[in-house]
Amino acid sequence: MSAALLDQGMRPLRDLRISVIDRCNFRCPYCMPVERFGGPSAFLAKGDWLAPAEIDRIARAFVALGVRKLRLTGGEPLLRTELCEIIERLARIDGVEDLALTTNAVLLPRHAKLLRKAGLHRLTISLDALDPAVFLRMSGGQGDVADVLAGVAAAEAAGFTPIKFNCVVQRGINEDEVLPLVEHFRGTAHVLRFIEYMDVGTCNRWSRADVVDSAGLQQRINTRWPLQAIGRAQRGEVAERYRFADGQGEIGFIASVSAPFCGDCTRARISADGELFTCLFAARGLPLRSLLAGDDEAMRNAIAARWLGRNDRYSELRAEREREAAGRVEMFRMGG
Ligand code: GTP
Ligand code: 5AD
Ligand code: SF4
Ligand code: SF4
Repeated sequence: MSAALLDQGMRPLRDLRISVIDRCNFRCPYCMPVERFGGPSAFLAKGDWLAPAEIDRIARAFVALGVRKLRLTGGEPLLRTELCEIIERLARIDGVEDLALTTNAVLLPRHAKLLRKAGLHRLTISLDALDPAVFLRMSGGQGDVADVLAGVAAAEAAGFTPIKFNCVVQRGINEDEVLPLVEHFRGTAHVLRFIEYMDVGTCNRWSRADVVDSAGLQQRINTRWPLQAIGRAQRGEVAERYRFADGQGEIGFIASVSAPFCGDCTRARISADGELFTCLFAARGLPLRSLLAGDDEAMRNAIAARWLGRNDRYSELRAEREREAAGRVEMFRMGG
């Protein structure tokens, strides 16, 4: 039954990303610039967050509709005090094959073992630089890279190896960190992925000129350490994967701007206050909170109806616009 739920692009519903909090202890300029997110008023009130039991119920509805992967995100999910309870509940759902969490790692020394004990399968850690000054800038003046590396060590000690690391690359800001990061993780079981800077939200003053295309990065790394493509592990995977020819591990590139992957996008997202979004770039969500008053079948039907009508493909449209713009004829040639 679950395999039959396809959207307008024949894409099945497979992954659910659940935000458990919109607050963060960092202010990465590409995500939560400090000038816009200075004080607590910029965020949801605590009372608006879905409770663990509500998250559990909503997640079960998605699993009944075909979801097999759950990812907890934020903001910074480790700031949510009930996080372990949420994980314990989600880990018990039949049909969940993968339960992962994305974090900036700063609070892992305190929490890594508890997360493991609660039943979390995998961790993804954001790490944009190794140089302390560059890292400080990338975290909006909030982060100390030494704390992140201590978090990584705690995650390893708690048994989370291999860990995926995400590095958002911004032109002229942390580009020079790419090779040191590759060198740092080469020879480990961890997988470093470079992400093209995206125009998410309304606050980061994105410009196409600030994006470092994955193809160029891949060439730069390949010159130093030859790489072999290994393709995507499964449908819907966002990263193009490569292995080091000398057997020293694997890296990936998430080219959401230069080579979008909407055609295989099987991801739904729920915000901390319970709105369902069918695209990272959606302007409107479906409030699931109001459905909590009804029965499970009504909730499943509402979610299914939203997925069936889904035709989001923002990143592909962005790329198409870019191609069209590049081919435009000058006005002085066509006539004013
Ligand atoms: P796993 O393969 O399960 O480990 O998950 P993942 O690769 O989806 O990992 P993660 O959640 O760390 O995603 C990595 C980054 O890819 C995100 O932080 C985004 O920058 C980008 N990304 C993930 N999903 C999407 C998506 O649906 N659309 C776009 N445009 N970018 C995405
Ligand atoms: N572009 C690309 N990735 C982003 N992330 C947040 N904002 C952006 C953006 N503008 C992703 C990064 C980060 C994770 C928490 O969210 O992967 O590690
Ligand atoms: Fe955003 Fe993650 Fe940076 Fe926090 S750590 S500001 S959630 S990118
Ligand atoms: Fe999916 Fe939207 Fe990202 Fe395309 S832009 S991959 S549809 S979330």
